[in-house]
Amino acid sequence: MARKNIAAGNWKMNTTVNEGLDLYKSLSEHDVPSDVTVIVGAPFIHLSSLVANKHDNIKIAAQNCHFENSGAYTGEISPSMLADLGVDYVILGHSERREYFNEGNDLLAKKLNAALSNDLSVIFCCGEPLEIRKAGTQNAYVAKQLEEGLFHLDASQLKDIVIAYEPIWAIGTGETASPEQAQDMHAFIRSILDQKYGSDAAQDMSILYGGSVKPANAKEIFGQEDVDGGLVGGASLKADMFKNIIDSF
Ligand code: PGA
Repeated sequence: MARKNIAAGNWKMNTTVNEGLDLYKSLSEHDVPSDVTVIVGAPFIHLSSLVANKHDNIKIAAQNCHFENSGAYTGEISPSMLADLGVDYVILGHSERREYFNEGNDLLAKKLNAALSNDLSVIFCCGEPLEIRKAGTQNAYVAKQLEEGLFHLDASQLKDIVIAYEPIWAIGTGETASPEQAQDMHAFIRSILDQKYGSDAAQDMSILYGGSVKPANAKEIFGQEDVDGGLVGGASLKADMFKNIIDSF
């Protein structure tokens, strides 16, 4: 997809179905600027009620999926189920999935293929833990995540992908990467996309920053040249805060 401004919410394991629906309805009443794509990532059991109340302005994402379309995988949800329901996106490779559910790059590559083959768009997350940042090796760390998780795709498949860079040390901690730190990493990600896929594909990729984005810092972060928006956790749970972030481009 051509590069877009994107405000994506990640509700994580928060809100009841009714609370989520209220939040969704409140967002859909917002006058979303025409050059901004808004996405909300909701728990699985919320998705059918959101889809039933779908508003063109607010795209709907799942937060995970399996790599098979069906089978004996108790408790799992498949990409074909999500696509059939009318879900638009799936978030893959969030650091909480990587850390608490042992999702590695090889598994994520399989999930990514399965999502794309079901015509789901994907928000593919990457980002380094604090010790890697302290050691100064974050570029190599993120490059490996993308090379092993994403770079098996061909250039034509990138149109359905959004990359989210989320430094783990900034997630839910109140500590945000500085706008310069975000810009540096986003420019680096775009440079490795350029080397692998060429400049058109690199320039077309939307790269989101995630990690304690809030109304007070969104404008400055989104104003960086290679930052195309945010993947927002905590601040996406309050309609007013998220609307403010949507208006920060
Ligand atoms: P946060 O979460 O905005 O609460 O830091 C971001 C994320 O994990 O996607």
